[in-house]
Amino acid sequence: MSDRLQSPLGRLRLGVNIDHVATVRNARGSDYPDPVRAAKLAEAAGADGITAHLREDRRHIRDADIEALMNSLTVPLNFEMAATDEMQQIALRHVPHAVCIVPEKREERTTEGGLEVARDENRIADFIAPLKDAGCRVSLFIAADEAQVLSASRIGAEVVELHAGAYCDFLSEGRTEAAHEELERLRAMSQYGHSLGLEVHAGHGITYDSVASIAAFPEVMELNIGHFLIGEAIFSGLDSAIRRMRALMDKARADTFGEGVA
Ligand code: PXP
Repeated sequence: MSDRLQSPLGRLRLGVNIDHVATVRNARGSDYPDPVRAAKLAEAAGADGITAHLREDRRHIRDADIEALMNSLTVPLNFEMAATDEMQQIALRHVPHAVCIVPEKREERTTEGGLEVARDENRIADFIAPLKDAGCRVSLFIAADEAQVLSASRIGAEVVELHAGAYCDFLSEGRTEAAHEELERLRAMSQYGHSLGLEVHAGHGITYDSVASIAAFPEVMELNIGHFLIGEAIFSGLDSAIRRMRALMDKARADTFGEGVA
């Protein structure tokens, strides 16, 4: 990795979310495709980390997948989970590199909206304390909203992952003005989070079309991308899809920060 591909604040990491490999497996009750095999392939293609969300209803990733990922990955696992006692116990049993706390509703198709930290500060603070004590890096998946960023910082989260879903949806629907406004919100909250000492990540709904504008924010240190990559893998293979996403991220960084920026 050449220096010119880095922002003044550091290299942009790519976390590959392999949930939807498990979605395809579970659709037929088979034991393939194996999300761990996909994770190893993602590692080989240059993923800096693997993300997996163990949902309460186990609709994609299952407990055994988390166990297998913990045993076989060489890159860090980012374990996405709801703020429930059950998930906290699972995280404390495995102690993954990072836990990302997400809101979760059974009836939703995917994670809609960010975690409500501002109105639930005490509960979330109590919830993350043992995870931090165990050595997990705690990330909170939040909307690009000042009150949420401030609360995340106040309760001692190390990382915030900003919800990029609205921006990506507006962009794909051709709603240019709404996309622009959302992008500006993401930009401002990346800066604000960084100014408070938080490490800023972004994720949800990112595609080849939406990745560059988010990758260009110098404060953003990690992107977590899943559904689009797994879908694209049907056409080009997972290795190629990941490498192309990585190349777009690198190009966005290089275009923004130019030659020689370390
Ligand atoms: N980040 C978080 C916190 C998520 O919940 C998800 C979806 O599981 C992602 C990133 C990845 O989103 P997508 O699959 O849309 O790329």
